[in-house]
Amino acid sequence: MKICKTISEFKNWRNSNIHENIGYIPTMGALHKGHLSLVASSKLHCDKTVVSIFVNELQFSPDEDFEKYPRTLEQDLKKLENHKVDVVFIPETSEIYKSDFSILINELDLSQKLEGASRPGFFSGVTTVVSKLFNIIEPSYAFFGEKDIQQLIIIKKLVLDLNFNIQVVGCETIREASGLAMSSRNQYLSDQDKKDASILYETLQLGQNLLKKNETVGETKLQLKSKLQNNKKIKIDYLSIANSTTLEELRDNVKLKNEKVIISAAIFFNDVRLIDNIII
Ligand code: PAF
Repeated sequence: MKICKTISEFKNWRNSNIHENIGYIPTMGALHKGHLSLVASSKLHCDKTVVSIFVNELQFSPDEDFEKYPRTLEQDLKKLENHKVDVVFIPETSEIYKSDFSILINELDLSQKLEGASRPGFFSGVTTVVSKLFNIIEPSYAFFGEKDIQQLIIIKKLVLDLNFNIQVVGCETIREASGLAMSSRNQYLSDQDKKDASILYETLQLGQNLLKKNETVGETKLQLKSKLQNNKKIKIDYLSIANSTTLEELRDNVKLKNEKVIISAAIFFNDVRLIDNIII
């Protein structure tokens, strides 16, 4: 497995693999089975698989966990080697953001909702770094997890609006046996909390059942909120039932017919922020 720390090292490799179909998985490290499932999809579809590990400060607000975000490079590299990744790109911050860096890529609509409303600046940081990484890696395919469904939708829009010649592939959320969606931030939870936090997925499943039984959006939301609020360790950030293309909230009196919707939620579980979703 080749490790590239600089853009020029990576470009040298890329130039000698110019005709290969490159599958690319951008990550911030602390790799888990969710990331490795993206690697497996890439290995299935592409000639060569590239993973980047870069904790992107630009997508963290000053009160978020950039400093304490888990950094487990040695274990990450072992996992990637075991999964026969071809190249890992691990740039320093100064390699990606020069000191006079002054251009941002901002999505203006989808990014204002849900995660974007709760985490101002987050999607600007994501779309900016992903655009830069796409320009450096020049992949044919890029793989993103459906756990971060809004990120996936926005990256698909980024590729369309900025004419990147890249297929964005969404891959299903990988879960613990309890149902808890895998996430690098789960490392902040104790084993007991990990079990208890599976209530988030149970709540989304309840939402799916209620909507399929023709319950209104408003009544469904009330029941889901009350299930979460019964747990003293949980503070709800948002709970949403939204159109899967526009991310517009459905009105309370709506009963589902054929429309594709996303039930999503962000909660603080003992102060650890967790997100999850179900696409219906
Ligand atoms: O999903 C993530 O880990 C990050 O948002 C990404 C896509 C690697 C950009 O920093």
